[in-house]
Amino acid sequence: MDKLIIHGQKPLSGSVKISGAKNAVLPIMTAAIMAEGKSRIKRVPDLRDTRTMIKLLEIVGAKCTFHNGSLIIDGSTVNNPEAPYDLVKTMRASFYVLGPLLARFGSVKVSLPGGCAWGPRPVDFHLKGLEKLGAKITLNSGYILAEAKRLKGTKISFEFPSVGATGNIAMAATTAQGTTVIENAAREPEIVQLCEYLNAMGASIGGIGTSRIVIEGVDSLHSADIKVIPDRIEAGTFLMAGAVLGKIKLTDVNPSHLDTVLLKLKEIGADINTSSNSITINPTDNIKPVDMTTAVYPGFATDLQAQWVALMTIAAGSSVITDTVYHDRFSHIPELNRFGANIRVDNNTAFVRGVEELVGAPVMSTDIRASAALIIAGLFAKGKTTVSRIYHIDRGYEKIEDKFRLLGANIHRGNSNG
Ligand code: EPU
Repeated sequence: MDKLIIHGQKPLSGSVKISGAKNAVLPIMTAAIMAEGKSRIKRVPDLRDTRTMIKLLEIVGAKCTFHNGSLIIDGSTVNNPEAPYDLVKTMRASFYVLGPLLARFGSVKVSLPGGCAWGPRPVDFHLKGLEKLGAKITLNSGYILAEAKRLKGTKISFEFPSVGATGNIAMAATTAQGTTVIENAAREPEIVQLCEYLNAMGASIGGIGTSRIVIEGVDSLHSADIKVIPDRIEAGTFLMAGAVLGKIKLTDVNPSHLDTVLLKLKEIGADINTSSNSITINPTDNIKPVDMTTAVYPGFATDLQAQWVALMTIAAGSSVITDTVYHDRFSHIPELNRFGANIRVDNNTAFVRGVEELVGAPVMSTDIRASAALIIAGLFAKGKTTVSRIYHIDRGYEKIEDKFRLLGANIHRGNSNG
């Protein structure tokens, strides 16, 4: 099994090109199968999750060609509206086929995702929303069966602005009869891009980027091309490493998607300059402790919480980090403490007391973002770190060790034998 071996405290410098956003491309890929034609998606990151989604789209009958960051999806052959357990259990985003396949075929069978590494992640908003649109939902042998000859527009108000439920319902409602209004919709840039893509496919969605999305149903969608937005979470991960280890420039990035993160990084003392598509960070040798609470967009992303905790482990004082989006997302804490960090968790809050220095250690990753936090800690730490179970990082970061190595880090991939 692969692991990453890091010899820490090497200065970083240079520039790094940010990849396309995982959480944008996955729903876009499922939207593409709503059309009976060929869609070309550009700037597709080569990730385990995009590969899993390709596999799933092929199972439902689409033809996919992925080469050099360009993915062509031909939806004309889609004929099997079913997402099997084996794929859904490895990637919850597989659930994004629910809305599109229901809209296109009038019936769909998708394995119900189970819990995840950091606790329960229900899908009740997706299901209640589809029921409101007129779908009949049943659960049988671990599979959700959704049926509706044609969905009917309605008003749906989410208890929480769920990213996935907003995406799934928006996709399903594009071809519903009449108008659908989604209240308390997610405003994340990835959902904005999904809605813009649906409009490019012929949908009629208004209020994009606001918490009230209005969808006028159309009869059908056609194929369309798109270039995926930059991955703001990958960008944030590199910025947190740069804040400590050296001046680095991120290219092909959208700084406006990172406003909250950039403000926080300035608060710790880092100097940041942006252009329309780049961010340069100058490190600080005295990291001020800064509290942080995650929130839905435009708040600080939960997907950068673990990395922020890693940064705060070596701040000059104590900080308090609260996750309001996922209350149990703290599996990285015991692993960060193996570096000599001083972190205590109480409910959904981590209390971090900065230490002088982290010391390299063997650690194990538990999910995508936890892995990123362990890599950052390994880069900060004195001596050798090995991060095992790195298949998690490969789900969401494109060639992360190559990118860090190009910046000057001493990091490479090995297997269990060394
Ligand atoms: N929730 C419910 N019921 C639902 C749906 C969500 O209670 O039916 C709750 C969740 O349990 C959570 C909150 O609502 O407490 C927000 O969940 P959301 O639905 O927004 O998350 P998601 O769509 O499952 C996406 C990203 C996650 C990211 C979250 C939050 C994708 C493929 N995944 O998940 O990304 O953390 O939004 O921004 O877009 C990652 O990339 O590592 C990752 C986990």
